[in-house]
Amino acid sequence: MYQIAIDGTSGSGKSSFAKGLAKAFGFYYLNTGEIYRALACAYKQGGYAEVNEENITAFVEDIEVKVDFEEGKQVVYVNGNSYTPYLRLEEISALTSQVAPFKILRARVLDVQRNFAKENNVVMEGRDIGSTVLPNADVKIFLTADVRARAERRYKELSPEDKAKTSFEEVLKDLEERDYRDSHRAVAPLKVAEGAVVLDNSNLNLQETIDEGIKIIRQKIKM
Ligand code: DC
Repeated sequence: MYQIAIDGTSGSGKSSFAKGLAKAFGFYYLNTGEIYRALACAYKQGGYAEVNEENITAFVEDIEVKVDFEEGKQVVYVNGNSYTPYLRLEEISALTSQVAPFKILRARVLDVQRNFAKENNVVMEGRDIGSTVLPNADVKIFLTADVRARAERRYKELSPEDKAKTSFEEVLKDLEERDYRDSHRAVAPLKVAEGAVVLDNSNLNLQETIDEGIKIIRQKIKM
């Protein structure tokens, strides 16, 4: 089985990049952020009053996590429930970043990720794929771009209503803060994994970034 590990900074376009690579090679694309997001939804549904070690431990003991592909689209089930329409809600994004650092929860997600990679050719995208989840991946790519370039992309994607409420400077500051938090957190900090190729796409569009990724992969694996 082939394992391609994609990590990188927030707003670098990791998901679209990983999806494009998976399509080019006919591999599965596993979005690991969605596993954490689905767990956050299930945690919320569980009615726990707050996020703490005790509650997370009780929650994790009680869950079964399954990743399925339906008409080519990833669906994450937690105890048989899929939370697809809710995964990207702002409230869930915030809760996900609170629950994701707990080691006991990450260990559960680790099993799901590794079991998937054992049985399938995969482009796996996340924060700690090359460093922790698949340290022996055939190819590791760390995608990044200058923080201003990432902020400009993010700002362009905002809806007209959000643009009216948010300035470019705020988007830039938010990304700078996220970069700091992601790389300084105690559990699974974002870092360039050993053996990873750093791809800076500050001056590349999505297709050019995917083409570069394909070149990197072809240099490492002969198919
Ligand atoms: O990639 P994303 O924004 O969908 O990730 C959602 C959240 O999950 C974000 O808070 C980072 C976290 N995450 C993580 O801790 N480890 C991963 N491998 C993927 C995501």
